[in-house]
Amino acid sequence: MNEREQHWQNVYENKAEDAVSWYQARPALSLRLIANTGLGKNATLIDAGGGASRLVDHLLDAGYADIAVLDIAPAALEKARARLGPRADAVEWICADLLRWRPRRRYDLWHDRAVFHFLTEAADRRRYVEVLKAALAPGGQVIIATFAPDGPESCSGLPVQRHSPESIARTLGEDFELLETVDEWHETPAGRVQHFNHARLRRRALDASG
Ligand SMILES: C[S@@+](CC[C@H](N)C(=O)[O-])C[C@H]1O[C@@H](n2cnc3c(N)ncnc32)[C@H](O)[C@@H]1O
Repeated sequence: MNEREQHWQNVYENKAEDAVSWYQARPALSLRLIANTGLGKNATLIDAGGGASRLVDHLLDAGYADIAVLDIAPAALEKARARLGPRADAVEWICADLLRWRPRRRYDLWHDRAVFHFLTEAADRRRYVEVLKAALAPGGQVIIATFAPDGPESCSGLPVQRHSPESIARTLGEDFELLETVDEWHETPAGRVQHFNHARLRRRALDASG
């Protein structure tokens, strides 16, 4: 395991699912933004860096049939699978560092809450966009949530790059069109409030990289 994998594996091995600062019993804003995509229940969705998030549970409850969850930490995916029980068999589980991942198929929606902001190096952000483009169908949509410019400077002991919706859109480049932005004040289990920015974008149907 490299340092990044070890960091996240330790977090999920040593902290209860509902003790991490990013825990949400119901990721209401993500669910609202996913509904706003207008995608049907047979659309292919990926929660990139989904960890042990309950988003997948709520998407299954809502009737989405083709959901993938990717994370770098095996322990995170194990927690989510154990929680879901037999329902976990309906989900595609991908244990990978998304910066090195080679997608085997294309998804209609890429959801990322609190992962992109860990990319503090421009080269890593460029790599993220390459992987995103390899994974996302033309015309597909992206939801990215990061700490806002006045949000925390670190998360889980790691430095973060804070973003506005516009800086997320700029980083993704001209092949993406910004459709919707929402602010969120997330209350952590310890009672602290963190300012997040959510951006929903669409990949243009025809772009330079196909
Ligand atoms: C702050 S947590 C957010 C988890 C989840 N998205 C949520 O909202 O509950 C960040 C997650 O990103 C994962 N992660 C960090 N870097 C990653 C990478 N390079 N590839 C895949 N997953 C990564 C971590 O293991 C962790 O689950």
